Amino acid sequence: MRKKIVAGNWKMNKTLEEGVKLVEETLQLFTAQPTDNAIMIFCPPFISLEKISLMVDGKSNVFTAAQNCYSEKSGAYTGEVSVSMIKSVGAQYVILGHSERRQYFDETNEMLARKTNLVLEEGLNPIFCVGELLEVREGNKQEELVGKQISEGLFHLSAEELQKVVIAYEPVWAIGTGKVATDEQAQEMHAFIRKILAAKYNAEVANEISILYGGSCKPSNAAGFFSQKDIDGGLIGGASLVATDFVGIINKFQ
Ligand code: PGA
Repeated sequence: MRKKIVAGNWKMNKTLEEGVKLVEETLQLFTAQPTDNAIMIFCPPFISLEKISLMVDGKSNVFTAAQNCYSEKSGAYTGEVSVSMIKSVGAQYVILGHSERRQYFDETNEMLARKTNLVLEEGLNPIFCVGELLEVREGNKQEELVGKQISEGLFHLSAEELQKVVIAYEPVWAIGTGKVATDEQAQEMHAFIRKILAAKYNAEVANEISILYGGSCKPSNAAGFFSQKDIDGGLIGGASLVATDFVGIINKFQ
């Protein structure tokens, strides 16, 4: 059974104090709901990761993720954060290759393949993001591009390693824009991703991977996405900053 996951990517939002308050409110709402079949992941900035990880420690179905990591194990890389540091504060997941990292920090598929290896070596789970820019979709080249992001970023992994990866499909034109992919557009890409995983590995492996949709997902549209057969949850930006919205999204699995 594939895991159902709703992950809240706070991006560069919330001070430590604000983050603690958000998690308190979110957990209060979440634990009051029958959400046993889905897991929730908080992805705060590094500075709050230890505190938030302690807050969710021992809670069933609640985990934390870092929003990024560096592509080397340790050393003279001032200002960077390694996977072992992330692990040491209790996070279980690491978001890799978010479109903002690809766009503003020039992260390449090759660099992301290295980061993926480091995350897996530490026994953590990557949330590997893919997605196309608007001009790529307008040129109907989205499958080619997402296929390349996946093959160059993940296809060096063994089947066993791949099964620890969560994939997030986030069309860049739908991130933070209020412009949402239709349920059909999202389902089509998720099915494509599963198809190429099945071709490279096998159908069983492809069926085990959780593939999340991201991009202006909110309580009002989440049910449509989550009812699609290849969509296993969401990577949520803006709506994860408001407890009622975030829990409202996860409850759409019911
Ligand atoms: P959004 O962001 O929900 O604010 O569109 C999604 C993301 O970037 O992960």
